[in-house]
Amino acid sequence: MTENLQKQHGKGTSGPETGLTPLVLADGVRKWFGHLEVLKGISLSVSHGEVLSIVGRSGSGKSTFLRCINNLETYQDGRLYVAENLIGYREVNGKLRALPTRAIVQQRRHIGMVFQQFNLFWHMTVLENVIEGPIRVLNEPRETAVERGRELLIKVGLGDKFDSYPMKLSGGQQQRAAIARALAMQPKLMLFDEPTSALDPETTGEVLAVIADLAQSGMTMVIVTHEMSFAQRVSDRIAFMEEGLVNTIATPDAFFGQSDNKSLQRFLATIH
Ligand SMILES: Nc1ncnc2c1ncn2[C@@H]1O[C@H](COP(=O)(O)OP(=O)(O)OP(=O)(O)O)[C@@H](O)[C@H]1O
Ligand SMILES: [Mg+2]
Repeated sequence: MTENLQKQHGKGTSGPETGLTPLVLADGVRKWFGHLEVLKGISLSVSHGEVLSIVGRSGSGKSTFLRCINNLETYQDGRLYVAENLIGYREVNGKLRALPTRAIVQQRRHIGMVFQQFNLFWHMTVLENVIEGPIRVLNEPRETAVERGRELLIKVGLGDKFDSYPMKLSGGQQQRAAIARALAMQPKLMLFDEPTSALDPETTGEVLAVIADLAQSGMTMVIVTHEMSFAQRVSDRIAFMEEGLVNTIATPDAFFGQSDNKSLQRFLATIH
């Protein structure tokens, strides 16, 4: 990371002060799908322990940006760092050179992601879903993985569902199992892409409570959501994305107080 970048995005310019460089640092991230420019230069940072929510209209690039952080999509210009590692590339004389798959897998290990559709393995019990990554990817002994898996499932309120198959669970329970599975990998960063938009209002509350607990515990998180009151409650800052750019990023009070930001006001009017 250049000194200049650190000055621009480092200590004091974002969320809780830790004295460390940001955990996530995006500087002018751009992405095209064919001729369609979807990310037009995203710059933001997320401090250690910070919760950033991202809101914005459908098609504004929220999921694409989140997927770039986790290397599920590749960006084509700009720089994106997680824990000071340049995601997806190494830089040679100012040019980006794609990393080999092995290095990308290594980078992704520290990042947990929870999707709108829960993406559990249907042929495995809830506990098997949770211990699969630690055993296969982290090479943990089975007993250690099982012990931590059980603890995590208890933490997300699924202490009585270790041996259930996902299809026997409600949507909210499946999503909580998916959160436990991501946490089992002991990530430095958790990404959530509309984690409750496939759920009914009742189960939505259960899942949001688990995410709010996680925020309280100090986990660094980036959450794409349409749940504005939730975002207001749990976020250190909220970003409004519009047409592939960050229109504004601010603490919840400042965010909702921007009465002269016409784009933001138009967006907020559509979801209240
Ligand atoms: N794999 C893809 N191939 C081509 N275009 C894509 C692909 N994925 C996304 N896009 C386009 O990129 C733009 C941004 O999509 P993205 O999914 O990031 O939006 P979003 O803000 O997450 O929207 P939503 O709120 O509906 O989830 C859209 O125009 C979308 O059609
Ligand atoms: Mg999306």
